[in-house]
Amino acid sequence: MDSKENKSPFVFARLSPHNIEAHQAFSNVVDTILNQPTQFEDHCKFLSYSPTQVPLHSVLSVSSTSSSAGTGTDTETEPTVGEDVRAKIMDQMIWKGCFTLSLDVLPSRPAFGWRAGSGRWKNDATGAVDLILTYSTLSDDVRGSHFWLSFNKNTGVLMLQPRHSGRNGIKLKAMYYAGQSNAQALIETASVIQAGRLEYKFEYTFQGHSAADKTFQLSKIKYFRDHLKAPPPIAATSITPSWNSMAIGPWTIPGTVGKGSYGVVSAAIHQNGTVVAVKSFLRFDRPTERSTMNEMVTAQTLMNHIQGQDNREYILQLKEVIFQRGASKFDRGPPEQVWMLYTPLAHCTFSPYCLSQRDDTISREARVALLEQVLKGVICLHAQNWVHRDLKPANLGVVSVEPPKAVILDLGLAHHIEASDIKVGIQPTPGQVGTVMYLAPEMELQPYNEKVDIWAFGLIALQLMTGFHPWKMAVNPWRPDTNVDYNHTLLYYHTHLRDWKRSAPDTVENLVSKLLEWDPKDRLSASEALQHPFFDTGHAKAPVSQEIETGKKRQRD
Ligand SMILES: Nc1ncnc2c1ncn2[C@@H]1O[C@H](COP(=O)(O)OP(=O)(O)O)[C@@H](O)[C@H]1O
Ligand SMILES: [Mg+2]
Repeated sequence: MDSKENKSPFVFARLSPHNIEAHQAFSNVVDTILNQPTQFEDHCKFLSYSPTQVPLHSVLSVSSTSSSAGTGTDTETEPTVGEDVRAKIMDQMIWKGCFTLSLDVLPSRPAFGWRAGSGRWKNDATGAVDLILTYSTLSDDVRGSHFWLSFNKNTGVLMLQPRHSGRNGIKLKAMYYAGQSNAQALIETASVIQAGRLEYKFEYTFQGHSAADKTFQLSKIKYFRDHLKAPPPIAATSITPSWNSMAIGPWTIPGTVGKGSYGVVSAAIHQNGTVVAVKSFLRFDRPTERSTMNEMVTAQTLMNHIQGQDNREYILQLKEVIFQRGASKFDRGPPEQVWMLYTPLAHCTFSPYCLSQRDDTISREARVALLEQVLKGVICLHAQNWVHRDLKPANLGVVSVEPPKAVILDLGLAHHIEASDIKVGIQPTPGQVGTVMYLAPEMELQPYNEKVDIWAFGLIALQLMTGFHPWKMAVNPWRPDTNVDYNHTLLYYHTHLRDWKRSAPDTVENLVSKLLEWDPKDRLSASEALQHPFFDTGHAKAPVSQEIETGKKRQRD
């Protein structure tokens, strides 16, 4: 390789000629550039080539015999290449090398990524390409702008983007893709990309989760900020692919994003670049079979109930369920994995923003907007008589910070109150449902309703805005039999409630005083809470999105 590559920047991926045509085209490009170095100064930066030419046969591996060998490798020869012609081709001297991708040597239009093709030279000195694939546009069937390699702003996944809808678009994994809406994710450590008649091997130079990848992810965050004008992408999907990442059908799982009580939650990327959260379950006996199917049926029923309803975008959606052995019914055989695919995949949960040592990377307006969206999600659930029952920072996702977008996660404990039970409420099941710090006083002691979510939401709002949780306890504070300090806690509660009630009308404390009322009947409903002046304080800088407008129209009662 060229000595330039040693002192050169941190190369994260290479695109190397893979078939005879691509080797010849690459070598021709190097020849042209060597003859007119100043004209192609920009393009040189992405080329790495051998100091001397080598015979073509020396660069061809077994796998790189031309896919189109039978159709002629040289436009001047007959379709069937005779032995002597073949020998002559094999002995051709070529420049061996590859295109290199680095965030230290940016493409000429960094926001577009790396543009590849034969160039559109009429009006643009760079030909509107960074990687010149060939000069033989016609014989190689390569378009002026054939494909782009660019990072998805949200997921951080490197995408292969066809730039035209012609017959010979892009071929990846034996499939052709054409048209700009057909971007494909480069989620394998190496893949073969075909553009026209030219085949390339695309490969990352290091594995995900390595020290090199950590450095790379940092430069990527800087590149996103400076050139894509975007916040850091989702860490779990932005990671560079590695050999040991798992695959489930068309989904690749680069890493985990959280731990649940039944298993891990991971990020998964589809070949088309879609990302989801995958909750994995293992079923091996009756109880595990029951809990797995419960989560699935709950999520599916809830999906059906909220279909077509406003504000459902703030509630996690079950997209697909994949059974390891294909059948939804457990066959009582060896342990079997079940994967539930949910969207959207959140960047993180509310937890880091709720700590007393707060992560101050998000503004007050963004926090208010996130709370408003959670409340809209709660309105949607309650309108269909669903109670979440486990609202807490770890079960709320931040899908994006700019603009703020929240989603209610973890539908595992959600409960539908049948019409006949609305007056009666849900019977308490002490110790089985919810998280002690967020339990409403009535929840483990008497039949309860959707107002338990309002109580939990009040505590989350207080934590997100102030970093303060008034009763951090490992037991249910509201049960005299579990809390040895019950009377003291009760007094503490009333003191706080009194203080909060005295605070200014548009403060979070004032809102909270109406959500943490002891008697559920006195607590605001979710739609009443949305009318509280506190939410007006978040609108100063937040852009008025369509969702907010539709949400306003939809006020119930
Ligand atoms: N859609 C998602 N996007 C990002 N992270 C998620 C998503 N769903 C779950 N998680 C992460 O996984 C954790 C556990 O998932 P959850 O559904 O709450 O499981 P459990 O029912 O076991 O509590 C969450 O606290 C969160 O950190
Ligand atoms: Mg959870």
